[in-house]
Parts: sequence; structure tokens; C-alpha cells
Amino acid sequence: MLRRPLLVANWKMHKTVSESLAYARELIRRLEATSRPHDGREVVICPSALSLWPLAQRLRGVAVTLGAQHLDLGDEGAMTGALSGYLLRHAGASYVIVGHSERRQHFGETDATVASHVQEAFRRRLTPILCVGENAEENRSGVTRDVIRRQVGVVLDALTADDVARLVVAYEPVWAIGSGRVPTAGEASEIARFIRGLAREAFSPEVGESLRVLYGGSVSVTNLGEFWSQEAIDGALVGGAALEVEEFFRMATWGQEG
Ligand code: PGA
Repeated sequence: MLRRPLLVANWKMHKTVSESLAYARELIRRLEATSRPHDGREVVICPSALSLWPLAQRLRGVAVTLGAQHLDLGDEGAMTGALSGYLLRHAGASYVIVGHSERRQHFGETDATVASHVQEAFRRRLTPILCVGENAEENRSGVTRDVIRRQVGVVLDALTADDVARLVVAYEPVWAIGSGRVPTAGEASEIARFIRGLAREAFSPEVGESLRVLYGGSVSVTNLGEFWSQEAIDGALVGGAALEVEEFFRMATWGQEG
């Protein structure tokens, strides 16, 4: 099973609508001018929900896909402030980040809510990018695999084999996010293999092989190659470094031959 490489930008709470459009304009200009296309790999931008629709218009016909950073349950209804998968899908999102550690930390999302959001994403034909990862204390005390097993396990229990084969998991050690610190590519790769192993055990070897696993946490144009060249790692989820269009463009076309 060939897993399609994937590079995802998570803009978090950054960029106004007009800044988002200026970024898209510049990204398109660079992609059109390059002799190193990103054919064969998927490039996804997850902007603020406000910028989804304007970006979807600007990116028509361009090989860049959009994702949301969060979704709420339900389709439409009396739910002040909520953003459903239905609304996100109709605003141009194809992916949605679920269970990011910042959502778990600041918005009280639990393993159970995260599992229900992943299910909801599939129901709405959005591909979920499930974020998992240990914090610094858990890393120090050597319980990383236990944490990952718990976070991934509860989601696998809620899904069908078909869903899991299409799921994307981003391994994001919490201590690496925005800190400039990263695990070694070998360590990240072992965890990617471990995650795939959980899907294999829960379903089948084929399902395990189909599941895409990304690395995220302080990825930059300098260290991207170390992670991406690991057989077990299918790409990256990038925060801060993706805010600069030049840097994101260089990551999107990293390692491509002219
Ligand atoms: P970072 O963020 O690249 O700024 O560390 C990654 C993320 O939180 O998804």
C-alpha cells in the first residue's frame, strides 16, 4: 500500500482574511514558477475558519487543499458559536485537525470528546488529522507509549476499519510544539511505527499499512527532511514555520527533483 505523503500547515489563531489571501497569492505565484512541483504529495493549509471560504475561491484549480482546525458536533441548530463539519465542508474544508494538544489543554477536550470529533469528521466526509503526543513530564517518566496507546486506542475503538485506513495521525510531542526542541527522527519514527502497529492489532495489517502518520512539533525547513525521509513518517504538521509563505513553499517542494 502506497501512502500519499502529506504536508499540513496549522495556522492556529493567526492571519486575517486579507493576510490569508495575500499568502495564497504568493504561494500560487511560487508554485507556478517552480520547476519542482509537489506532485505526488498532498499540501494542506488549515487557516482560521474565517478564511476557509475566501481561500477556497482563491485556490480553485491549485493543488493545495484546505482543512479546518476544529469541529463541533452536529450539522445545523441552536448551538451559538459552534462550527459543524457540515458548515466547514461547505466552506471548502476537506480535512480537519482533531484533538490538538492546545484544544485538549485550553478547551478541555478529553480522549472521549476527541474520539467523537473524529467520528463526526468521517460522518461529514472530512479527513481527520488526529493529534496525539506525550507532555514533557510523561516523556521524562518514560510513559510515552502508554499515553499514545490510550489516546489512539480510544479513537480506534470508535471507528470502522475503512475509517482507520483513511485516518491521519499526527504524532506531536507536546514538549516539542513551539519550543524549538524535537525528538530525534529515529524516536519519532519508532512512535509512528508503534501507532501503525496499534491499528494493525485492532484491525488488520492492511489497515495498519494504510494509516498515514505525520510528525509535528517545531518542524522547520531545516529539520523537515530528517523526519520526512523516515520510511514510517508520511509527512509533517507544521505550525510556526508554515506562517511564512517562503518557508512553507520550500517545505512543500522539499526534495523534489526539477
Ligand atoms: P509548531 O506547531 O510547528 O509551531 O511547533 C505544530 C503544531 O502545533 O501543530
